[in-house]
Amino acid sequence: MTVFYNSTEIARRVETLAEEISWHIKLEKIENDDLIILSLLKGSFIFTADLIRELYKYDVHPRLDFLAASSYGNNKVSSGNITLNSELIESVENKHVLIVDDILESGNTLHYVKNLLEERRAASIKIAVFLEKPGKLVKDVKADFIGFKVPDKFIIGYGLDYANKYRELPFIAVMED
Ligand code: IMP
Ligand code: MG
Repeated sequence: MTVFYNSTEIARRVETLAEEISWHIKLEKIENDDLIILSLLKGSFIFTADLIRELYKYDVHPRLDFLAASSYGNNKVSSGNITLNSELIESVENKHVLIVDDILESGNTLHYVKNLLEERRAASIKIAVFLEKPGKLVKDVKADFIGFKVPDKFIIGYGLDYANKYRELPFIAVMED
């Protein structure tokens, strides 16, 4: 495997992302009580944990919820069929929701989750992804906050898995065949 972003580079980017997100929150005058961060499991658990602790520095104190959505199974190619393996605990009605995901590729996952939140009448929906693989979108969905763009290679580490392994790697790496 080839390291693409090391832990220092990751930490710096999460810091600046938190700053961007907090600007948006202040600009839109979103109160802490109206803010929900929705972390998509399993891939975004590490990014979410880092991000919320950076947001804390800007006095952002959201409620946190998780949704287990999967489109990959044990494969390296997104299936396009989204399976939900959990339910929301928080009511998102009239709340401002920031969806946090590890990577935006086809957009199938985020498109699905965004629709779900719209059906449940969220007041606004923004999307933060740590990584984006440009040129792979099949759905009409875009991220509002993006950490890094990565090439069209299979990525592991910092929460991203291959067959539910390698999530613990403290860096982002390209997995060679
Ligand atoms: P999408 O639905 O195709 O946009 O893919 C989103 C999900 O697929 C992400 O949340 C990841 O869990 C997974 N995924 C996409 N690309 C990669 C990759 O390169 N490595 C590991 N997981 C990936
Ligand atoms: Mg995954």
